[in-house]
Amino acid sequence: MTGNTLKTELAACVERFTRANPNSARQLEWAARVMPGGNTRSVLFYEPFPLTMSSGAGCLLTDMDGHRYIDFLAEYTAALYGHSHPVILHALSQGMARGLNLSAHTELEARLATLIVERFDCAEQVRFTNSGTEANLLALAAAVAYTDRRAIIAFSGGYHGGVMSFAGPATAMNVPHRVYLADYNDLHSVERLMHQHRGKIAAILVEPMLGAGGCICAAPGFLQGLREMSRAHGALLIFDEVMTSRLAPGGLQEKLEVKPDLITLGKYVGGGMPCGMLGGRREIMAQFDPRLGRLPHAGTFNNNVMTLSAGIAGLEQVFTREAAIALNTRGDALRQQLNQVLAPVALQFTGQGSVMNFHPTAMHLQRPMELSEYQKRLRDLYFFHLIESGIYLARRGLVALSLPLTDNELLHLLTATRAFVDRYAAVLPCD
Ligand SMILES: Cc1ncc(COP(=O)(O)O)c(C=O)c1O
Repeated sequence: MTGNTLKTELAACVERFTRANPNSARQLEWAARVMPGGNTRSVLFYEPFPLTMSSGAGCLLTDMDGHRYIDFLAEYTAALYGHSHPVILHALSQGMARGLNLSAHTELEARLATLIVERFDCAEQVRFTNSGTEANLLALAAAVAYTDRRAIIAFSGGYHGGVMSFAGPATAMNVPHRVYLADYNDLHSVERLMHQHRGKIAAILVEPMLGAGGCICAAPGFLQGLREMSRAHGALLIFDEVMTSRLAPGGLQEKLEVKPDLITLGKYVGGGMPCGMLGGRREIMAQFDPRLGRLPHAGTFNNNVMTLSAGIAGLEQVFTREAAIALNTRGDALRQQLNQVLAPVALQFTGQGSVMNFHPTAMHLQRPMELSEYQKRLRDLYFFHLIESGIYLARRGLVALSLPLTDNELLHLLTATRAFVDRYAAVLPCD
């Protein structure tokens, strides 16, 4: 491979991708006539064009050109149960048979809420929403009303939904909450803001592991420090566990032994159906009690039969405590093995349990880093190499394990990563 640069290797890889996927390319052209950029969910888009999937079964996906992939993305963690899990399908068909859209309370709401309360220690009561984004909006509304304060501390590189995204420059998409950004894993930066805005901070909103920010783990003591500081300043602590709640039976808060005042959930907890949830201390949640008339919380589909049915079946029958522990143990082992393969070329995965992210650097990451053009090419080369090897992941390097993956599939990812290191040794960085 001498004489080839990273740029030429990547260009060749993209060229092969383009030739292999004419139907996906055509699909984007068609979609772009009726949707801006042919897209309705920004994260799914990448150049030269994203793959269009036509079906999924278990842990496999098939694209419009007939290629099969092992799904290592699992709908950005939401497809924990894989595609068309029989237990989930059965629950959905039973739900449908009883009738959709009943314009009333159903017994399903309290059943799913009970499962959440039993599982997540800080959730004494629960409300349902249609997305993780909405759950976070509800959490902030609850905190502002409860404390009678207006400002929020969040973290650079944090992601709490499309309208609360704190990576990159300020965006008109963000809701106009008064948000002050601190640095992840830097308690001093939080303390400075607390003092600067003394008596005005309603809540600290934090992911116990940065998800979209690249699976950056909280340093020992960081979340504990936030807990103490929020208490000392009369602010609430909100854990956004939309992505991390799958990392231990009671969420990452259980594993890290820090109890927030409020928790937001989403992704898999609705069994793969659209969902979000807010849970928390009884006296904060009581604000939503319609008998008290303090905070009305509407949403036509908050209690939709499909989400509730699938969510209950998944938590009761499939993602049990034991299943959660087993999946995350396998994830930890896989990440360690991947890192052994990648260490000689100074690349790495970070993360916890069943959720991890590739990084084109060997640096110890405490917060998201700005990638150089060279590093972006490295990340892209790994992505296109894995796609060529029949492995589907996020362009940004996110890998999320689903329950149907067997050891064979995990081995396939390891083998493909080893092949990447061998094939591109000449253009990869070294130790
Ligand atoms: C940590 C976190 N919070 C909130 C959200 C938003 O959830 P949703 O896409 O369901 O609105 C996401 C989605 O990726 C997330 O990762």
